[in-house]
Amino acid sequence: MTARNRSRGPRTRKARRGPRADPPEKARGQLDVARAEEGPLTLGVSGMGFVGVAMAVAFAHYGHDVVGWDVVDRRREDIAKGRAPFFDPGLQETLSSAVRTGRLKVASDRESFFRRADVIFLCLPTPSRPDGSVETSFLEEEALRLGKLLRKGRSWKLFVVKSTSPPGTARKVERILAGESGKHPAQDFAVACNPEFLAEGSLVKDALEPSRIVLGTTDARAERALRQAYQGFPGKVVVLPPPAAELVKYSSNALLAVKVSFANEVARLSEKVGTDVYPVLEAVGMDPRLGPHFLRAGPGFGGSCFPKDLRGLVAFARQMGVAMPVTEGALSVNETQARHVVDLAEEASGGLLAGREVALLGLAFKSGTDDVRESRAYPILGELLKRGAMVRLHDPRSLENFRKGLPQLLSADPGPRVRFCERAEEALTGANLALLQCDWPEYREIPLPLWKQLKDRLVVDARRSIEGKELRKVGLRYVAIGRGEP
Ligand SMILES: NC(=O)c1ccc[n+]([C@@H]2O[C@H](COP(=O)([O-])OP(=O)(O)OC[C@H]3O[C@@H](n4cnc5c(N)ncnc54)[C@H](O)[C@@H]3O)[C@@H](O)[C@H]2O)c1
Repeated sequence: MTARNRSRGPRTRKARRGPRADPPEKARGQLDVARAEEGPLTLGVSGMGFVGVAMAVAFAHYGHDVVGWDVVDRRREDIAKGRAPFFDPGLQETLSSAVRTGRLKVASDRESFFRRADVIFLCLPTPSRPDGSVETSFLEEEALRLGKLLRKGRSWKLFVVKSTSPPGTARKVERILAGESGKHPAQDFAVACNPEFLAEGSLVKDALEPSRIVLGTTDARAERALRQAYQGFPGKVVVLPPPAAELVKYSSNALLAVKVSFANEVARLSEKVGTDVYPVLEAVGMDPRLGPHFLRAGPGFGGSCFPKDLRGLVAFARQMGVAMPVTEGALSVNETQARHVVDLAEEASGGLLAGREVALLGLAFKSGTDDVRESRAYPILGELLKRGAMVRLHDPRSLENFRKGLPQLLSADPGPRVRFCERAEEALTGANLALLQCDWPEYREIPLPLWKQLKDRLVVDARRSIEGKELRKVGLRYVAIGRGEP
């Protein structure tokens, strides 16, 4: 948390001390518009995953009463007790403080959640379908359930689609709510979208200090309520019609991923040219029109967003009759990057990985999180096994999550060819070579004598995460992605 945030102080702290009782029910048909328009808002967060929890603690931090809801009992119990359901820097502390102060509460059932919340942020999954298009059924089915509750409700409500979803989704949610409740959009309720740009590994910081706040609405009352929800947050507010706001999110992720894949293309070329891509990309990024961010070579992008959002964008565009070859290109470079990483390791091993033991260090999709969704460690492991290697796996945070994801990846049980190691020492001692997939700071602390335990004295760094000079000084070979030998 920055000094700036600490000193800001919540806006309406005094008025909201202590639990707020639900207001008495109004006579049937009489809408309580004033509650949502004038008083402090209770913000509801439906879906307490990475985005939901981060936004719930951020809203609580800026002084709102927040009520959370998730279909998973265990998740609700954990959050109600102030226990972070996953690792991200600072999340545990911020969450326990939000719960301790009483600002963040968790509803025990959907109906009480619905009653208590003036604004409902839908932070539900939007996974890929097998054809790459976006599965919006979590949002649509929840809209059906909420529509039933809206039918009985007396007060104006705002529903906000925070999930990343294709243009037109907010409008679809509005149609479902209207159809199910018999109520009128604009008059009895509104639906807006408000895409989220936070990144795992810096969830809390990004939620507290958004780069921009994009509000997708053409409804004046919805805009006022959303501006109230975000009062005190830094970051410019941009108001757009819902389909445009929905498109902002996809375009942002696609352009970031294009930068990553482009950097990886130049890295492959640098390896052949016999130069180091890092100073090249650094100089490229000095152009203010380009900027230095996301110009780094590595094993490719993974995680729960970039791959699925790019696939989703391409599939949506195809439905609209538009080709997106640049976005498709970013995906296809990414798909071959894991193989490229293993090629580097194979080449450095004299062209043969069969029978060699590889210590694969770092399994999360990036450092700073225990999330392994679409981690590049999966295709790298698959490729290593295909070439006959034995693999020792280590990660300081996500060993267990990675283990759970393995059966989906491997059709056959890899048996003793895959070993899970609790400590990096266990992975390195007696292995032939190490392959770094993630730039966890812990790996920079590994003492030189431990690296020297590697039988082939070979370290392949797919993330440029450690200092190769030191390793070379003590006689190890250090091969890094994007660094060709002159
Ligand atoms: N993870 C990120 O870094 C990130 C960043 C920006 C946007 N997004 C987008 O935000 C959305 C959510 O992503 P996430 O990573 O938080 O997902 P997640 O899988 O971590 O969390 C989703 C949560 O919703 C719950 N849930 C499922 N159905 C529900 C229902 N009907 N009612 C209530 N709860 C329900 C699940 O139990 C889970 O806890 C996605 O659209 C994603 O693309 C994610």
